Amino acid sequence: MDPIFRPTRAEVRLGAVRKNLQKIQAAAGAARVLFVVKANAYGHGAAALSGLAEREDLAWGFGVSSVEEGLALRAAGIKKPVLVLGSLYPFESFVEAINAGLTVTIASLDAARQVKEAAARLGKKAVCHIKLETGMGRIGARKPSVLKIYDELSGSGDVSVEGLYTHLSSADTDPDYTGQQLCIFNETAAELEARGARGLALHAANSSAALNFPVSRLDMVRCGIAAYGLAEGFAPALSLRTRIVFIKNVREGAYVSYDRSFRAGRPMRIATIPAGYGDGYLRRFSNRADILVGGLRCRVLGNVTMDMVMADVTAVGDAAVGSEAVLLGRQGGEEITARELAGLADTITYEIVTLITARVPRVYVE
Ligand SMILES: Cc1ncc(COP(=O)(O)O)c(C=O)c1O
Repeated sequence: MDPIFRPTRAEVRLGAVRKNLQKIQAAAGAARVLFVVKANAYGHGAAALSGLAEREDLAWGFGVSSVEEGLALRAAGIKKPVLVLGSLYPFESFVEAINAGLTVTIASLDAARQVKEAAARLGKKAVCHIKLETGMGRIGARKPSVLKIYDELSGSGDVSVEGLYTHLSSADTDPDYTGQQLCIFNETAAELEARGARGLALHAANSSAALNFPVSRLDMVRCGIAAYGLAEGFAPALSLRTRIVFIKNVREGAYVSYDRSFRAGRPMRIATIPAGYGDGYLRRFSNRADILVGGLRCRVLGNVTMDMVMADVTAVGDAAVGSEAVLLGRQGGEEITARELAGLADTITYEIVTLITARVPRVYVE
């Protein structure tokens, strides 16, 4: 392993991910669990967490957004099914996907023809799930096109249609709309069955639907955020930790950071912490977020910079160079949650963890 000198790291508790996946499976009942690990497992590290889930059989398979992400899992030794949730383009990428045994999403008749041709050319069977548009407005074919896609593929010996799915846009906020989406989905599934489709894996639920909307569970649930512990009742897996690298006492009237957005109203003790927006610690947290030092909340002072941020440690008697600083997560009896940070930045918890950049080493602990 490369030496790590800068103390900033994202610590991921494997035990939390394990428990969260077990809890999802318990809620899902007989439905399979597709562990959604796209975008580097929402910043947590896709290879490590998929490895854990595969070794311990905590999920049926994995959901990624692109062929690249799927290939990375195969390169990491993942053998279980990997469903590419995105719409593939350019169509040549079907060749790579089929070669690596990735399951592809087919959301248009064009894509159906291309996957069939790629599989025939390779002499290898392609496995796909058809994506139905029911109200998300992102990717997906409407019912008439889904029927055509199915007809195009089902007669082919080169492509195996293993699933039909949709994505719910508002499972956490709008049960009526979610119900309407599921209704369109079930109607389409019934029509496919009437055309002879048998044994398709039907799936629609993300974490929120899987946990709160039992009829959405169908044959499989696709869960990301709950596995990372960022849904109600689950244990957050990731914390962002570092150590103070510089400390100083300042007089009343001293300015801190770019643009002088903070001026000390009294003598203060200020710590410099080696993390900034270059690590995904948002500039929006300037003068608003707290960082934990010595188990106490210390307010961020001045603008967050690319690599460093300053915090008021006046109240932490023994704060010194080398003291631990927690930007996200627990320390002592205090906790900075992703929800709290998301609120400060007017965003969602997904974005807070996914934006942690590649230069932050992910460290896995039991
Ligand atoms: C198609 C699809 N399925 C499932 C998920 C998982 O959603 P969640 O993280 O809310 O469980 C996502 C994530 O955005 C997705 O795009």
